Parts: sequence; C-alpha cells; structure tokens
Amino acid sequence: MKLLRETVMLGALSATLAGAPLVAQGEERIMPVTDPLTLKECGECHMAFPPSLLSASSWRSVMANLDDHYGDNASLPEKETAAITAYLVANTGRWGSPGVSGSSAGQPLPRFTESQRFAHEHRRFTPDRLAREGIKSIVDCVACHRGAEQGYYDDD
Ligand code: HEC
Ligand code: HEC
Repeated sequence: MKLLRETVMLGALSATLAGAPLVAQGEERIMPVTDPLTLKECGECHMAFPPSLLSASSWRSVMANLDDHYGDNASLPEKETAAITAYLVANTGRWGSPGVSGSSAGQPLPRFTESQRFAHEHRRFTPDRLAREGIKSIVDCVACHRGAEQGYYDDD
C-alpha cells in the first residue's frame, strides 16, 4: 500500500519536472485559425485572429455586426457568417477580458487589444512609436510576431 503511494507520487513529481522547462521558456502556443473559410474571409485585411482571444459572446457580437466592423464593412453572405461564427464559438477562449470600443455607429464591439493583459504586454507600443516603425496598427501581429500565423508569439 505504502509502496504504491510512493510510486504514484514519484510519477506526479517527474511529470511536473518534465513540464517545467516548457513553462519557463514561455512556450505558450495560441492555436491559430485552421478553418479554411475563416482564414480566407477573416485574413484579408488583418491576420485571421485566433479564436481563443475572445469569448463566445464577444465573437457573436463581432459576427453579428460585420457590416459595421470597427469602421469597415466586412459583411459576408449569411451562410458564411453562420459557418465562421460556429467555428469561432467552438474554439473560443479568453485571453484576458476584452475591452470595448465604439465602431463607426458608436456600437460597442469587443477588442482583445484593449484587454488588460494585451495592453500590458504591448504597453511600449504607443501609436507614435508604431507610426515611426511603419506599423499600421497594433493589430498587425505578423509585423512583430513572425510566428503568429503558426501560433507563436514569444519569438522577439
Ligand atoms: C474589410 C476588411 C476586414 C475584414 C474582411 C475583416 N476585418 Fe476585422 N478588422 C478590420 C479593421 C479595419 C479592424 C480595426 C483595426 C484597427 O483597430 O487598427 C478590425 C478589427 C477586428 C477585431 C478587433 C481587434 C482588436 O482590436 O481587438 C476583430 C476581433 C476582428 N477584426 C475580427 C474579424 C473577423 C472574425 C473577420 C472575419 C469574419 C474579420 N475581422 C474580417 C477589417 C476587416
Ligand atoms: C509592434 C510590435 C507588436 C505587434 C504589432 C504585436 N505584438 Fe504582441 N508582443 C510584442 C512584444 C515585443 C511582446 C513581448 C514579447 C516578450 O516579452 O517575449 C509581445 C507579446 C505578446 C504576447 C505574449 C507572448 C508571451 O509569450 O507572453 C501575445 C500573446 C501577443 N503579443 C499577441 C499579439 C497579437 C495577437 C497581436 C496582433 C493582434 C500582436 N501581439 C501584435 C510586439 C508586438
């Protein structure tokens, strides 16, 4: 009985040790979009953002307002909108709670770039600095994270 318990504990300990270096190196991968339709339709103007960056309710409100999309018109036929919504909602997460910004009609749309966690990680990048470096907007992930489309963000 005692022997069994020690074996179990040792097993747990070596599992912890084996996992430790991964955590220390910050190798947290954010699953990229894999759905071809979402990649195509949502990767046209900016990188197709990983579904785990927003909660299900936030994705629903983004997808319900594509005609008034952060000041742009990103509307799609109903069938495609429904398919993309289903994909995003099935793979949702919560990378920090999002903030909300007015779109052109003053309608609040969720922005993961305004979550505390995202804002903190990117606090050095003021609009002035982005402009100086020739980066259009902080949503241009690939400008700085070359591995973003594969889900890697700790490469710089
Ligand atoms: C016609 C161009 C266009 C298309 C197509 C498009 N977007 Fe966008 N999207 C934008 C613009 C412009 C912004 C605002 C960028 C900025 O603030 O610099 C934006 C911002 C966003 C944001 C907010 C990012 C933040 O600041 O947190 C989300 C989420 C988003 N888009 C999701 C989608 C999804 C999902 C699709 C596909 C259904 C899509 N977009 C397709 C132009 C587009
Ligand atoms: C102007 C450059 C720049 C842009 C644009 C940018 N980032 Fe970053 N990002 C950084 C830097 C620098 C860090 C801090 C990296 C570090 O400390 O390892 C960071 C950190 C992160 C982290 C945390 C990584 C970790 O290992 O903790 C994530 C996730 C992230 N960015 C996602 C994004 C996403 C998604 C976008 C696009 C919507 C984006 N970033 C746009 C420069 C940028």
